[in-house]
Amino acid sequence: MSYPDKKVLLDVKNDFPVLVNNPNLVYLDSGATSLKPKCVIDKLDEYYEKYGVNVNRGVYKLSYTATTEYEETRTVCAKFLNCKEREVVFTKGASNGLNLVAQSYGMDNLNEGDEVISSELEHHSCVLPWQNVCKIKGAKLKYVELDSEGRITVEAFKKVLSNKTKVVVLTHVSNVMGYITPIKEIIRLAHEVGAVVVVDAAQSVPHMKVDVKDLDCDFLAFSAHKMFGPTGFGVLFGKFKYLKAMRPVEFGGDMIDEVYKNESTWKDAPFKFETGTPPIAEAIAFKEAIRYIESIGYEKIQAHEKALMEYTMRELVKIDGVTIYNKSVETGIIAFNMTGVHPHDASTLFDERDICLRAGHHCAQLIIKWLDTIGTLRACFYIYNDFEDCDKFIEAVKDSAEYFKEW
Ligand code: ALA
Repeated sequence: MSYPDKKVLLDVKNDFPVLVNNPNLVYLDSGATSLKPKCVIDKLDEYYEKYGVNVNRGVYKLSYTATTEYEETRTVCAKFLNCKEREVVFTKGASNGLNLVAQSYGMDNLNEGDEVISSELEHHSCVLPWQNVCKIKGAKLKYVELDSEGRITVEAFKKVLSNKTKVVVLTHVSNVMGYITPIKEIIRLAHEVGAVVVVDAAQSVPHMKVDVKDLDCDFLAFSAHKMFGPTGFGVLFGKFKYLKAMRPVEFGGDMIDEVYKNESTWKDAPFKFETGTPPIAEAIAFKEAIRYIESIGYEKIQAHEKALMEYTMRELVKIDGVTIYNKSVETGIIAFNMTGVHPHDASTLFDERDICLRAGHHCAQLIIKWLDTIGTLRACFYIYNDFEDCDKFIEAVKDSAEYFKEW
């Protein structure tokens, strides 16, 4: 096949040791987790090999080094998101950050009769914490009606928004359909009725510039591991006026100010939310992931993904026996099925060719039900994929379609 825009493609495969060690691998599961570049792995090693001690505790040189490296990540994150350092809460990942907002802000601010707006496009980590809080507090969880292609639209959002709305919790980019939510306009409308907006940015920050001041979101959560960073670490942005007023939900070491027998006082935000020994190496190494993204630039990342997606989609739509669920190319995600075949069975055929895809409900059962299917296959393209990967993927889809036709 002839390759259309080879010039726009990045040439970064060699930055990723997993790809160097597995030269035939076609990794299309970056929505689940991205591969990690050498600079991030080196930084993890540096912590363990050169100053691997605890942070915020020791009164000795190595602990100062570890603490400085750890807090430098907060500075890098704040600049990356365009917020203040005290608005950056270190978490275990997007799910942990989203749960924190529901458990603290939600439990203290929702009352009977209040409404929370979400959608069927959400990851479970976005909607389930609010299902729980709504049940306990007697609030109502409402859903934006998706359009005929499964998108969240401003028009549909307006129909569920009211003076009763207190919280809006939505995905920025769907982890199944890859659609981009018109979140900025939704935030503006939500603020008109005094609601706070919580954004699940797990699938957006890896692929697009997210400026929290520009969006004017109240909370925004994402994971490090989907954007070249280590596992077990993430960030929750919160406007300081909210973080300051919120209760911690975990109690223990490092988050306290003074402890008395029957009551205690906490550090100010963000530290009151960071209990116990944190994932230190992961936090320290995460800034290298941000620096890696910044050294490439989102414009080039998006041009790369777009070229791969358009090339793949053009071929995929021609194959009989394939249903594609997302109707446009907005990010690097394709959700599809081989007609009449369970996605797990189909993914086994891909695995035989060293093609890694995700199959199933993608922790987003509501959209799978909305699509009226049992699950999908999902191919996610990222900067280390190239046209050869697309060709191998397309060939595998063609062959699988042929194979299953004979069933
Ligand atoms: N949330 C991750 C995914 O979409 C794990 O695959």
